[in-house]
Amino acid sequence: MRTTISVIKADIGSLAGHVKVPRELLDVCGDSLSRALKRGIIKDFHVTSCGDDIDLIIAHNKGVDSSVVHELAWRIFRAAANLAKERHYYAAGQDLLVEAFSGNIRGMGPGIAEFEFQERPSEPIIVFACDKTSPSAFNLPFFKIFADPFNSAGLVIDPKLHGGFKFEVHDVKQAKRIFLGCPEELYDLLALIGVSSRYLIKRVFRKDGEIAAVVSTERLSQIAGRYVGKDDPVAIVRTQSGFPATGEALEAFVMPQLVPGWMRGSHRGPLMPVAQRDAHPTRFDGPPRAMALGFQVSDGKLLGPADLFDDVAFDESRRMALEISDYMRSHGPFEPHLLSPEELEYTTLPQVVERLKKRFEPIE
Ligand code: F6R
Ligand code: MG
Ligand code: MG
Repeated sequence: MRTTISVIKADIGSLAGHVKVPRELLDVCGDSLSRALKRGIIKDFHVTSCGDDIDLIIAHNKGVDSSVVHELAWRIFRAAANLAKERHYYAAGQDLLVEAFSGNIRGMGPGIAEFEFQERPSEPIIVFACDKTSPSAFNLPFFKIFADPFNSAGLVIDPKLHGGFKFEVHDVKQAKRIFLGCPEELYDLLALIGVSSRYLIKRVFRKDGEIAAVVSTERLSQIAGRYVGKDDPVAIVRTQSGFPATGEALEAFVMPQLVPGWMRGSHRGPLMPVAQRDAHPTRFDGPPRAMALGFQVSDGKLLGPADLFDDVAFDESRRMALEISDYMRSHGPFEPHLLSPEELEYTTLPQVVERLKKRFEPIE
């Protein structure tokens, strides 16, 4: 049977600043999805949060870009945002950028990662959710999972993976996309996705066309034309039996890579893999977090989750992330802790330069 998994996320208000989603907002989402489940609109769901972002994980059979599912998520976020406003939670309604729903949640503020597949006899998936970072945070780990034999042993020794994977890469500046196959176009792929401020991995496919992974790549700052918060991405990966093993997918997050999005969306910091209970960034509003929930998709039901970074095996990554945090923080307002001017969510630089304009003089 064909099943669609839609992970739809939004920051619609949080507790004590941009820290964590209050329980009562999650309950609004859970109650609404329960009603949708009873009415047969969806097959199953799980509500969770990463930092100040709510993640609705929905299983259904309506395909990707279903206006029914998108509108459901939109209405749920609206209801939760109304409560957030009533209760004066912080940044209530932040990610809901338009008034009325118009057919597809893309471009309306929330982020979305969704794919449809024919369920295998056993269908494990991982839902990744991040806070205080951008979709570009998935470029490096997804490259490792699907193209790096030093990360994924299956690329070398599993005949089902040996053919490699195909990457759909988006040029976010030109709104164009390209498909690149690996291993044959590995260097071209790296030449693009290494420039992660511009080129984003959107989807990964097996060479037979089967979908393997998808990332939410909505650009909130571009949508709104002004700073309205981070993209704080989500992603879904299929694992095992013809896809990378669950452990190969998780292995790609061991190295706490530097990502943009820390404090005011304007600083680089290490992406720290954490259990859900630790997904509430407070130190300098960070450091950026990634959590990973594992499910078995079973006749449209979501069995689980297993909290996959809740393992002592990631302690050393977390320790390293904290050490890198100290090091990066010690740069204060200097690059590369501070992002380059083009990447800053907001800056006083133009005003400062304007005010000092007359005092700039030619260098002898
Ligand atoms: C929000 C975030 C935070 C805020 C910062 C300032 O996700 O990344 O670091 O940018 O707390 O927030 P405001 O401007 O709302 O006071
Ligand atoms: Mg927030
Ligand atoms: Mg957030």
